[in-house]
Amino acid sequence: MSAIIDKLAAIVGERGLITDPQGKHPYLTDWRENYLGAALAVVRPASTEEVAAVVKLCAAERVAIVPQGGNTGMAGGGTPDQSGREIVLSLNRMNRILEIDPIGYTMTVEAGVVLETIQEAAAQHDRLFPLSLAAQGSCTIGGNLSTNAGGVHVLHYGNARQLVLGLEVVTPAGEVWDGLRALKKDNTGYDLRDLYLGAEGTLGIITRAVLKLWPRPKDTATAWIAVPSPEAAVALLSGAHAASEDNVTSCELMSRQGIDLVLKHIPGSVDPLAERHDWYVLMEWGSTRPRRAGDNASGLAEKMEGYLGEALEAGQVLDAAIAQNEAQARAFWALRENHSESQKREGPSIKHDISVSVSRIPAFMSEGLAAMKRVLPECRPVPFGHVGDGNLHFNCQGPPGWDKARFMTHAHAISGAVYDLVVSHGGSISAEHGIGQLKVDELAHYRSQIELDTMRTIKRALDPQNLMNPGKIIRV
Ligand code: FAD
Ligand code: MLT
Ligand code: ZN
Repeated sequence: MSAIIDKLAAIVGERGLITDPQGKHPYLTDWRENYLGAALAVVRPASTEEVAAVVKLCAAERVAIVPQGGNTGMAGGGTPDQSGREIVLSLNRMNRILEIDPIGYTMTVEAGVVLETIQEAAAQHDRLFPLSLAAQGSCTIGGNLSTNAGGVHVLHYGNARQLVLGLEVVTPAGEVWDGLRALKKDNTGYDLRDLYLGAEGTLGIITRAVLKLWPRPKDTATAWIAVPSPEAAVALLSGAHAASEDNVTSCELMSRQGIDLVLKHIPGSVDPLAERHDWYVLMEWGSTRPRRAGDNASGLAEKMEGYLGEALEAGQVLDAAIAQNEAQARAFWALRENHSESQKREGPSIKHDISVSVSRIPAFMSEGLAAMKRVLPECRPVPFGHVGDGNLHFNCQGPPGWDKARFMTHAHAISGAVYDLVVSHGGSISAEHGIGQLKVDELAHYRSQIELDTMRTIKRALDPQNLMNPGKIIRV
């Protein structure tokens, strides 16, 4: 094996290669610590040419490659298997912003740029890159595009797929596909770009991307709202689209169970409302008009106050607080964004990242909660998520005091009950986190034969040696 290590070192240099167990460890386990793999080496190329050379070498030597960005994925897609024969190819040294075009509203970046860095660079040019999620301080744009990430602004701006114009990809043969076009319109045959988006590194390695930018909002209004039920939350959102003049940029639903976990585990967290409630909505409206500018003023906060007042009278809202300044808005958001972290600190949990149509959320919620409890009465459901996208993190916390091994013996039955229900509502078993290695069996079970056959045909055609993130998404 040392022969291939020497060849890899010749391509990426000493700085680009990690072979010692301690150095490799962070790349071999996932954020949730559900998987622990092994790897021949962690390879960190610094350019597209180095990525291509590494892939060519691996193709010749039949060494499988696991691409990795910020390693914040929720489905084990970036974790190698336990054979020790794969390499992890980390993009984290390819972290340059190559060009910002404020006139054309685009930004060209390398795949390893951290999402927050992209947001900040856009803001410096009075532009917005709208992808936003709690892991934005460490996830990379290559990982975001490869998982077709969602986050908290999808209902207004779309998911990662809608935020990108062009890609550069290193194919499983080590060739470079230059699709780095900044075109809004391009109908020249099959859309290769769309194949790689959401492919979780199974079809090639994204090395660069041309991203779309938007005008930066000059005013936002953020409200923390107690609602009587998920049904009321959906109705509140439905009316908010018109009341805000189509300016709803986020709508997140949370339950009391989730808030209690955040208050327990995240120091400094404070419940914004005096009384306890079962359900909460965090709603944000955004406008490119400034807050105060005479006739051009956005008037967002006033409109939101008026709308919530009417909803209170109609019984759709029980209580609400509108953020009076940025610090307060950030505090509201922290209660939402810390759900994953506090669930992790609380102990073992099972995640279901599902979607149904928005109007089916209330029925799914009550049937789903009952279904979970039927399987394991002691379990603690923690449902929350992007209700504006019909996407719920229909998570389930283990009973107090249970260790992971004990709780996981019920995982199959709990997830099966949830997914069967999702499918009966015409929904999806994976709305934004992807399949990775976590849901390979579920994908095979819930997708139709024709879909699975087509996916396998694509995978075999593009990666005939099955060396690009094998065992993820679909078995070939
Ligand atoms: P990684 O975890 O490194 O990789 C993810 C997958 O992409 C793997 O299959 C990997 O092989 C592949 N990959 C990575 N880079 C490349 C590349 N350059 N080319 C080809 N394949 C590649 N996700 C959401 O969608 N919405 C959320 O709201 C959200 N919230 C989160 C909150 C927290 C606290 C955490 C920890 C995670 C959250 N996630 C969320 C999940 C995760 O952040 C996203 O999936 C993110 O897009 C992964 O980016 P990454 O750079 O960490 O990718
Ligand atoms: C989020 O939206 O916070 C994550 O995608 C959800 C999760 O951790 O389940
Ligand atoms: Zn999410």
